[in-house]
Amino acid sequence: MTVAEELTPAVPDSAADAAGPDESEKPIKQRKNGLYPGVSDELAENMKSGWADTELRDLEPIPQAAETAARRAALSARFPGERLVIPAGNLKTRSNDTEYAFRASVEYAYLTGNQTEDGVLVLEPKEEGHEATIYLLPRSDRENGEFWLDGQGELWVGRRHSLTEAGTLYGIPASDVRELAGALREATGPVRVVRGYDAGIEAALTDKVTAERDEELRVFLSEARLVKDDFEVGELQKAVDSTVRGFEDVVKVLDKAEATSERYIEGTFFLRARVEGNDVGYGTIAAAGPHACTLHWVRNDGAVRAGELLLLDAGVETHTYYTADVTRTLPINGRFSDLQRKIYDAVYEAQEAGIAAVKPGAKYRDFHDAAQRVLAEKLVEWGLVEGPVERVLELGLQRRWTLHGTGHMLGMDVHDCAAARVEAYVDGVLEPGMCLTVEPGLYFQADDLTVPQEYRGIGVRIEDDLLVTEDGNRNLSAALPRRSDEVEAWMAALKG
Ligand code: GLY
Ligand code: MN
Ligand code: MN
Repeated sequence: MTVAEELTPAVPDSAADAAGPDESEKPIKQRKNGLYPGVSDELAENMKSGWADTELRDLEPIPQAAETAARRAALSARFPGERLVIPAGNLKTRSNDTEYAFRASVEYAYLTGNQTEDGVLVLEPKEEGHEATIYLLPRSDRENGEFWLDGQGELWVGRRHSLTEAGTLYGIPASDVRELAGALREATGPVRVVRGYDAGIEAALTDKVTAERDEELRVFLSEARLVKDDFEVGELQKAVDSTVRGFEDVVKVLDKAEATSERYIEGTFFLRARVEGNDVGYGTIAAAGPHACTLHWVRNDGAVRAGELLLLDAGVETHTYYTADVTRTLPINGRFSDLQRKIYDAVYEAQEAGIAAVKPGAKYRDFHDAAQRVLAEKLVEWGLVEGPVERVLELGLQRRWTLHGTGHMLGMDVHDCAAARVEAYVDGVLEPGMCLTVEPGLYFQADDLTVPQEYRGIGVRIEDDLLVTEDGNRNLSAALPRRSDEVEAWMAALKG
């Protein structure tokens, strides 16, 4: 199947192109498959009819409908009297006429539970609160041929929910998105939009919004996600559970990876992610040997060698977009060498110290500081940096080998809540319901002349996903062994 080309019948175009005032005059963008150079009047007439009514009449709301309603209520309370526009975003071209897999904006999915391209949530201010409407592309019209001739026609991309069905599923009345841009242009009164997802919607609002006010909306929606509700915690646990199975899958095929490359590891984990979830939550880091020292090694095209370590940083994303973010550093042959174990155990000890600092009322920075202190102590003890430890920490000298922060919030984004204000996040205090990673590491680059030769090319990270509870924390990824001897026993059992 190949390109879209313009053909005759004058019908409304797809929502992605519906921003302009005269869009309804545009012809359908037809997909051309080489067999049908044109459409005869007879065929066009024939295709209009003979189709069953497939309306779904016994749908139940999505499981998280109550939670998404509560989130919209919180948003409404923060911005009374203002129209709020939250787009899902549009398809993005990968090449020619193929697109990347669509992932709705986190803000839209968080507030609606819907994940459809071109969708837009609008909260319309009322005397009391707001009225929500979800704007979507309706079922394809069969009368005008849209369903089989348009590139976004259902015959090509699959059945969509009708607006009535969508209203039931998401608990929000649904309207035709093709009318939204025009309506927004006409509307008066204060308005804010979440920027960066839908150029057509933003163009319709361009004279009515300011970057500063829109940023306040984005920041609010980022901070709203700092504390997870019960549904979200359940989804994160599902993501982690699938991720644990993905790690087991990888250990079972390490011999095949040795015969091929890191790609075998990436592919094996991806299979689990696609079968049990929506996708991977971020590009899998399958870093064998010295690649472990490259923090975001996602090329994954290197050799996997017995005697070296594999740093696997991977997470399954659930169908509702919640992702795990887990790292294990594994001896490829199943047993750590003495030096590998020494470095691994130091990182483990640092992680234990970090995990112990995750509790309600603690400063967000505490777990980072606790882990860094342990790593600095080890580096001094090993003679890699001159002490005392306080001097090392004060000057940050350990960072040559610890490289990154010890964790981050986790949720619908792997680095969740990134637009939150510093005082609400990095300079903030932990609360029950927050979910974050604790992931210290030590990395000795292959070309680091300041460490003994035998250290070079060894990288270790251990990363777990923690929920802050009323009295401490719960390690959502505790099912995956962490201590070096437990890792070895677990690998031996899996390899049989
Ligand atoms: N997987 C990226 C991170 O650990 O932050
Ligand atoms: Mn992480
Ligand atoms: Mn990670």
